[in-house]
Amino acid sequence: GRLVVLVSGTGSNLAALLAAHEDPAFGGRVVAVVADRPDIKALEIAHAAGVPTAVVALRDFEDRAAWDRALTEAVAVFSPDLVVLAGFMKLVGKPFLDRFENRIVNTHPALLPSFPGAHGVRDALAYGVTVSGCSVIVVDGGIDAGPILAQEAVPVLPDDDESSLHERIKVVERALLVDVVGRIARDGLTVEGHRARIG
Ligand code: GRF
Repeated sequence: GRLVVLVSGTGSNLAALLAAHEDPAFGGRVVAVVADRPDIKALEIAHAAGVPTAVVALRDFEDRAAWDRALTEAVAVFSPDLVVLAGFMKLVGKPFLDRFENRIVNTHPALLPSFPGAHGVRDALAYGVTVSGCSVIVVDGGIDAGPILAQEAVPVLPDDDESSLHERIKVVERALLVDVVGRIARDGLTVEGHRARIG
């Protein structure tokens, strides 16, 4: 299936998806990478892999609604079968959700429904949890509130800071994301079916 990956940062999840698409059995192919800002490592990774990119930056538009429409079009031109938010740090709006309904997944570095939002790792650490982890969910109109497709636990060590915990989570997260995206690329995304398949 045709994968369009949305990014905002270092692109380690993108890199894992690009590595997976070298394996014909993966079932997905990253056909484009779309960012909400220029000059990020994720775009360098896409360029190095010869994958088309687009940047849709909020500051280039007169308001949020115009940005939402532009982002939707920028992704739609690549005819995605599945849109993967991989470290994308913006909430996608209604036009986007309507256009790609039930074909958007997101990865979050915490065990949802705990610690949703932009600082899941920091919030989990501050709360004092001894176990955190990562979640791959279907994106709906909420903030990290969509149906859960997969999760994996990651231990929190006593001397962890946000960076050390996030790095430990990211090792697990990128493997989980590749596994879920591959399964959807091969079998399609039906949340009920997906959950049923996990058993
Ligand atoms: C990931 O942990 C993602 O869950 C979070 O930010 C990180 C992005 O990492 N939103 P990268 O850009 O894929 O390296």
